[in-house]
Amino acid sequence: MKRSLIDILELSPAEIDELIATANDIIDHPAKYSEKCRGKKLATLFFEPSTRTRLSFEAAMYELGGNVLGFSEAQSSSAAKGESVSDTAKTVSCYADIIAMRHPKEGAPYVASMAASIPVINAGDGGHNHPTQTLTDLLTISREKGHIDGLTVGFCGDLKFGRTVHSLIGALSRYKNVKIVLISPTELKVPEYVLQEVLEKNNIDFVQTTDLQAALPELDILYMTRVQRERFFNEEDYLRLKDSYILTPSKLRDAKSDLCIMHPLPRVNEISVEIDDDPRACYFKQVLYGKYIRMALIMKLLEVE
Ligand code: NCD
Repeated sequence: MKRSLIDILELSPAEIDELIATANDIIDHPAKYSEKCRGKKLATLFFEPSTRTRLSFEAAMYELGGNVLGFSEAQSSSAAKGESVSDTAKTVSCYADIIAMRHPKEGAPYVASMAASIPVINAGDGGHNHPTQTLTDLLTISREKGHIDGLTVGFCGDLKFGRTVHSLIGALSRYKNVKIVLISPTELKVPEYVLQEVLEKNNIDFVQTTDLQAALPELDILYMTRVQRERFFNEEDYLRLKDSYILTPSKLRDAKSDLCIMHPLPRVNEISVEIDDDPRACYFKQVLYGKYIRMALIMKLLEVE
């Protein structure tokens, strides 16, 4: 049976543990994996801009010995002529073994997975979900901290439109004694469905605040995010909110010495570049780990031994 990945919760906690274990093994023994996907093709269908997600998927497939085809903007595909996502997915099923799709419309990768005869991975759908960034984030947290249970995780910035935030909150809600601190301007709070269906329903210990400085001292993880300009209805609101939080070295004064600062990237202004050399900055390690966990995921969905 073909299996896709549209929402992170489609993977059981045990499967996530296995993917993390495989990624760790790939990091330690990359040569073992260099022929695993020989003869297989990954199609990257990106209807929205991307640097890390698309290139890490492509690098992952090359490092598994496979090949890659695809497009990186909607304008260069038949979507520009009015083709439906379903027809595109059926077409690509004739040429490739697995699809990674990013789309501005929420639910588009799900629609593609219904039409495709090959696995579809959601590489980000609008302001909704981003399950492979979450796998990346979980691998990063587990490598940095040695565990995920019991951590206090702060999310800061655009929690309304940030799809990486929604998926990671969903994943964290299944670990024990995780505390979540939601730091955002009032207009950019997490959507009601995340509050009710995820946090409240699972009895997660969480607080909402606008004050990053006050929240910082108790955090084990600080997950910074970019204000998602492309999801705003008007530019004025974006300009007013874009610099709500800027992390600078002086603001880190009261933070834990083993704080792990994460960001899915791209960064615009929200983390000062002076922090890049701080040992607590983990966002470029996150970039690297994203390739390894995607290698593990591609092997799993292609049922490679
Ligand atoms: C994120 C995304 O596309 O949602 N980037 C990524 O995939 N690493 C975050 C963002 O664009 O702000």
